[in-house]
Amino acid sequence: MVRIAEVGKPVCRPGEVLVRVHAATVSSADWRARSLRMPPGFGLLARPVFGFTGPRNKVLGVDFAGVVEEAGAEVTRFKPGDAVFGLTGLAAGGHAEFLTIKAEGAIARKPDRLSFEQATCLCFGGSTALYFLRDRGAMKSGQSLLVNGASGAVGTAAVAIGKAMGLEVTAVCSAGNAERVTTLGANRAIDYARTDFASTGDDYDAIMDIVGNAPFARCKAALKPNGQLLAVLGGLGSLLSAPWYSLTTGHKVHAGPAPERASDMEDLAALAASQQFTPVIDSVYPLEDIVAAHARVDTGHKVGSVVVTIS
Ligand SMILES: NC(=O)c1ccc[n+]([C@@H]2O[C@H](COP(=O)([O-])OP(=O)(O)OC[C@H]3O[C@@H](n4cnc5c(N)ncnc54)[C@H](OP(=O)(O)O)[C@@H]3O)[C@@H](O)[C@H]2O)c1
Repeated sequence: MVRIAEVGKPVCRPGEVLVRVHAATVSSADWRARSLRMPPGFGLLARPVFGFTGPRNKVLGVDFAGVVEEAGAEVTRFKPGDAVFGLTGLAAGGHAEFLTIKAEGAIARKPDRLSFEQATCLCFGGSTALYFLRDRGAMKSGQSLLVNGASGAVGTAAVAIGKAMGLEVTAVCSAGNAERVTTLGANRAIDYARTDFASTGDDYDAIMDIVGNAPFARCKAALKPNGQLLAVLGGLGSLLSAPWYSLTTGHKVHAGPAPERASDMEDLAALAASQQFTPVIDSVYPLEDIVAAHARVDTGHKVGSVVVTIS
């Protein structure tokens, strides 16, 4: 159950900054922390990771945008008054008026052209897209990418960042979101209700699965000979079999969690500043309506990110 409560103001320790939060997203990660619904095989890890008697971190929210209120001893990267955004990840804490984060952690200056609401939406989808497309997939300009689940927070970021990387992007989403993803940069859209992308005869340099319904067995016919599966969402079986597929087929399978890094926040800020990535906002709720914000995320059909405004 989500409710609003008074909590203590966090204390800014050496090496940390205290941020007054203006906006944060309610993400699919918050939905997982609340519902403990995990991909197949990860169920046993849910309670140790997220808490045995409810969320370990009572304040959810894996990202934030706000203003530095205080810089702890030894901090040189930020000063009070700086507008910033960042990713707290498993530590959560974005859905509160204040949070502390390591100054060397996943935090960067907010690009001037973005509002706080937009800036917080850079983080979750953007860092995941960068990690899988650039770091794991090492994708090059001119290569083809299919994004399965292209209209959510990760999907819209993958389409826009893929386009910025010079990829030819095919977006798989519902018919109602086709125009949105092509506006973001997809070369074409496939309606998953009408067409199975894996049996059209087309093949791709990489398939990014963000829905969890496209394991290697389904994707292999739609991968080019050296094509890669970027399994953003997959069960334990997919994770464990990834090295085996990479070793025994001509394909590579990449799976696992994206990290939280300062350099990615800087890169996302640069992409936003150069207008190559403007994150998509599904809807904005004041903190008082956070229950409704979670309900919107729970539908599994948001377009981009759901934002709560806090200060
Ligand atoms: N590995 C990692 O580090 C990592 C990082 C971030 C997220 N994730 C995982 O990635 C998943 C997605 O996250 P998200 O925040 O992007 O979720 P989201 O914003 O809720 O988006 C889900 C999207 O899936 C689409 N969808 C539903 N059924 C579909 C289908 N059969 N085919 C194609 N698209 C379909 C929906 O589009 P329509 O409305 O058009 O149906 C919706 O836009 C989560 O489960 C999360 O746990 C993993």
